[in-house]
Amino acid sequence: MALFALLFSVGANALTWACFFLVFAFLGYCCYIKYIHMKYDHIPGPPRDSFFLGHSPTFVRIMKNDGIVHNKFLEWAETYGPVYRINILHYIILGVTCPEATKEILMSPKYPKDKFLYKGLFNLFGQRFLGTGLVTARDHELWYKQRRIMDPAFSSLYLRGLMGTFNERAEKLMDKLSELADDKTEANMLQLVNCVTLDIIAKVAFGVDLDLLSNNSPFPKAIEACLKGMVHQIRDSLFRFNPKNWPFIGEVREACRLLRTTGAKWIHERRRAMQDGEDVPKDILTQIIRTAATEENMAEEEEEFMLDNFVTFFIAGQETTANQLAFCIMELARHPEILAKVTKEVDDVIGMKQEISFDDLGKLIYLSQVLKETLRIYPTAPGTSRDIEEDMTIDGIHLPGGFTCLFSSFATGRMEKFFEDPLKFDPDRFHPDAPKPYYCYYPFALGPRSCLGQNFAQMEAKVVMAKLLQRFDFRLVPGQSFDIQDTGTLRPKGGVICTVRHRKY
Ligand code: HEM
Repeated sequence: MALFALLFSVGANALTWACFFLVFAFLGYCCYIKYIHMKYDHIPGPPRDSFFLGHSPTFVRIMKNDGIVHNKFLEWAETYGPVYRINILHYIILGVTCPEATKEILMSPKYPKDKFLYKGLFNLFGQRFLGTGLVTARDHELWYKQRRIMDPAFSSLYLRGLMGTFNERAEKLMDKLSELADDKTEANMLQLVNCVTLDIIAKVAFGVDLDLLSNNSPFPKAIEACLKGMVHQIRDSLFRFNPKNWPFIGEVREACRLLRTTGAKWIHERRRAMQDGEDVPKDILTQIIRTAATEENMAEEEEEFMLDNFVTFFIAGQETTANQLAFCIMELARHPEILAKVTKEVDDVIGMKQEISFDDLGKLIYLSQVLKETLRIYPTAPGTSRDIEEDMTIDGIHLPGGFTCLFSSFATGRMEKFFEDPLKFDPDRFHPDAPKPYYCYYPFALGPRSCLGQNFAQMEAKVVMAKLLQRFDFRLVPGQSFDIQDTGTLRPKGGVICTVRHRKY
């Protein structure tokens, strides 16, 4: 009995101390948040939803209503100016639309990608996802080593050699559209172009034939699950604790695992071929294997590191281009005069030819303008962010170091200040003689961490669009939504449903 009383009293004491410690830690954290508020509150910004959570309830609300957070960034930029403040717990995020600051920060290698976001993409709900692959690597040395080795797979010479595959895979889409071209059947254009871009990246990057327009595949669904999971994990820190969300979280983890086990299988096959001295293509997969091989002290991590880049290219190399194509088809279908002009250019340059050459692409100038204008209004990868440790002054406002800078190409692309009548789809803004937008248009980001696949993506998009315009008339099925769905990347919510028919010559 005495022993029990002693244990009880020790336990009660420990509990009291633990409670005391927790209350003390909580009060200390609140004081720290207050200090951060005092340090940054001179920067204009919207009123906080709560002292503790800052503006995060606004983001959760937007997500619950299936809205677009970048619309909020646009609204805040217009209300509060070229630099505005967002609070989340003790974090400070500064939305920046000032072109000079955008140039200074994004063009410099000295500001790392933001740790909250990019470290957050290492795992998805505990399952390794993008790890320290090329998009998420924050350490400059680690990133630079990877980028240097990957560069040859994106050189102009190498990309020229991909024209055959771009043509061949786009031709499969044309075959599929021919089957649907009765002017009545409804075609989900987003789904169709998704199959093509996934086919292309699988073939070009990894040497694998998926042929998704003929075969069913779990990959499109898995990619979508990962992207949705990514958004929930980053924007709603309490998401994982709600039991209602656990089945979805299970799906996301399973999708991540599927991508990584597929990567492991394809890498294993390629490595064996390399070891057997077989002639392997100098494609992205070979470069991924070479990058991992140069990592010192990484024997154990080597496999995981290769898979990080596998998943990175599988996702980065496909979704954004498919969404751009779908938005482009949507806008052309809504603007018959632009459609007629771009079709005429395709007829003049390509005529009845089936195989589009690299040189033809350079002559499709108006089509380039159309694709650029599509990414202005619909930047499918809508922003990027950097951590800033040093003090800075933007637009005359002193910014004490220790904040994150958020750059939204969606917001700047839609600001009247930078683009007159910004919601008007007008490819002539990108006419070769028009003044170039000054650090307010960056759908592929800017500077050293800009998109490695930019030229790849735009060649691919041009081949697909040129063939589509050469062969088919397409019309939007009435009554569909032109809304945007925010899954971290942006995509047309309604899928761009069209009826299609062969063009009459
Ligand atoms: C329309 C299509 C595309 C758009 C709009 C786009 C946009 C972007 C953006 C905005 C970034 C910077 C991301 C960040 O800062 O977090 C990026 C990075 C990247 N993209 Fe793309 N991308 C596209 C297509 C592609 C394709 C086809 C590939 C590969 C085949 C690719 C590979 C990459 C890679 C590897 C990076 C990381 C680069 C680095 O940090 O060194 N992208 N992309």
